[in-house]
Amino acid sequence: MLKKLVTAAKLQFLDPVSRRVKTEKLTYLSHSKLRSLNACLKELEARDVVGDFFDLGIALGGSSIILAKAKGTRRFSGYDVFGMIPPPGDADAADTHERYKVITGGRSKGIDGDVYYYGYDAQLYDRVVANFASFDLDVDGEDISLHKGLFEDTLKLSDDDRVALVHIDCDWHDPVQFCLQTVAPYLSKGGLIIVDDYNDYEGCRKATNEFLATNPSFRLRRSRPHAIIERA
Ligand SMILES: C[S@@+](CC[C@H](N)C(=O)[O-])C[C@H]1O[C@@H](n2cnc3c(N)ncnc32)[C@H](O)[C@@H]1O
Repeated sequence: MLKKLVTAAKLQFLDPVSRRVKTEKLTYLSHSKLRSLNACLKELEARDVVGDFFDLGIALGGSSIILAKAKGTRRFSGYDVFGMIPPPGDADAADTHERYKVITGGRSKGIDGDVYYYGYDAQLYDRVVANFASFDLDVDGEDISLHKGLFEDTLKLSDDDRVALVHIDCDWHDPVQFCLQTVAPYLSKGGLIIVDDYNDYEGCRKATNEFLATNPSFRLRRSRPHAIIERA
């Protein structure tokens, strides 16, 4: 009873899109991460930062829907395998490898303990497109595009690209490292990189700290509830 009251109270502090995404169990993001993400989106608008929105790690589409709803005249691009998450690597911690065994063993629960776990859904891409449609978002491959496959194969930016915000939400060390290195050169002045799992997975934190240590023109603005990085 108390838990339900607290959840209802927390929902009141979310914007309407995030509230619906959360209520429909379309995101792993906590209430505080959702509030922070929305504050970043508002800040980019207020500061008139040019560039597109990217979401690297989609699952059921929650964070992507929030970015696509807020994009205005920008483009939104989302990337994911839309299937079983790829394995962690040598730079990830032992508990991450244990978590992966639970996933591949078919024993993972879904969002908020749901019986449905997105990674076991062979039709995940179609389901995500339908989730977008339920928010009146058309995945047209132009203004809104979803790229299916490993980031290492699909994520390619060119000198024509400008990034205002990239939300990196792919859990383990190697994909986080790859995403940071691939997208950061295209970040607009004043743009933001959010690393969702900075406090959740040791490998993700390590990859982020390595990036910051070797790229002094980027600085960690704050680390909670997720890491927010800006160009220094
Ligand atoms: C925690 S989920 C994303 C959650 C989502 N942003 C939300 O709002 O709930 C992490 C996603 O990253 C994807 N992912 C991880 N590594 C990847 C890689 N190397 N290439 C493509 N997708 C990857 C997984 O398939 C998974 O869907």
